[in-house]
Amino acid sequence: MISLEGKVALITGASRGIGKAIATDLAKAGIRLALNSSTEKSIEETRRELVKLGAEILSCPGDLADSGTPEVLIDRVVGHFGGIDILINNAGVAIPKPIVETSIEEWDLHMAVNARAPFLLSRGAIPYLKKSDAATIINISSVVGYKGYINQGAYTASKHALMGITKVLAQEVHQDDIRVYTIAPGGVFTDMVSKMRPDLDTSELIKPKEISDIIMFILTHRGNAMIDQINVHRFSNTPWI
Ligand SMILES: NC(=O)c1ccc[n+]([C@@H]2O[C@H](COP(=O)([O-])OP(=O)(O)OC[C@H]3O[C@@H](n4cnc5c(N)ncnc54)[C@H](OP(=O)(O)O)[C@@H]3O)[C@@H](O)[C@H]2O)c1
Repeated sequence: MISLEGKVALITGASRGIGKAIATDLAKAGIRLALNSSTEKSIEETRRELVKLGAEILSCPGDLADSGTPEVLIDRVVGHFGGIDILINNAGVAIPKPIVETSIEEWDLHMAVNARAPFLLSRGAIPYLKKSDAATIINISSVVGYKGYINQGAYTASKHALMGITKVLAQEVHQDDIRVYTIAPGGVFTDMVSKMRPDLDTSELIKPKEISDIIMFILTHRGNAMIDQINVHRFSNTPWI
């Protein structure tokens, strides 16, 4: 196990749900955090809670649907902390709709936030990650990163795109000892799942903290073993389906 004390992580979508759980665990490990969500207002509660834990936090609000935001975020993080060790591409949007009812604007929004922003943030962070001894990119994909669910066409396409970026990037930065992972969960108890899958029994949903536990395992076990992709499903779901 390695110590993460003093490392710098940029986490997108840290205002609630999975991103907030990840931010909380990383803060407890002594990692200095740059936290993004779409607005100053939405990130403020997480910032305040984590500062109370004694964490060093930089708020980095910015709309990831805007193609200029990732560069601004990287500049801000590096300007403040002097580098980046860990990038967690977690922010995501999902609008439940059949493909025939999906507008161009909705399609573009999914692609911009779920696929283009992780690409641009990774591209911007790599020069700094190359200088780190704990360089890690974690992309939060989804079960629809490798399967397809009805009424989730644009979301599914964007998560497949994210999976594609992950597979290629992991190879391209391998020689720089930058480790690139994807986590592909399904059915985590957040705002997103209540919108996408109101049919699910909430008592059976995965807790956001269970996803952040997996991330802490990845970050602290930097040995010769490498896990490229972690698929996480609800225990109540049939295994291997
Ligand atoms: N929940 C699940 O069952 C599940 C399953 C598989 C994968 N995932 C993935 O897990 C990740 C986190 O999802 P979640 O369930 O925690 O969702 P959530 O509770 O809806 O939170 C979404 C987060 O993304 C941020 N975000 C959304 N649009 C943004 C934008 N344009 N610019 C910047 N930030 C933006 C939100 O910030 P604001 O508060 O400012 O809106 C919020 O922090 C997503 O990538 C999602 O696709 C979730």
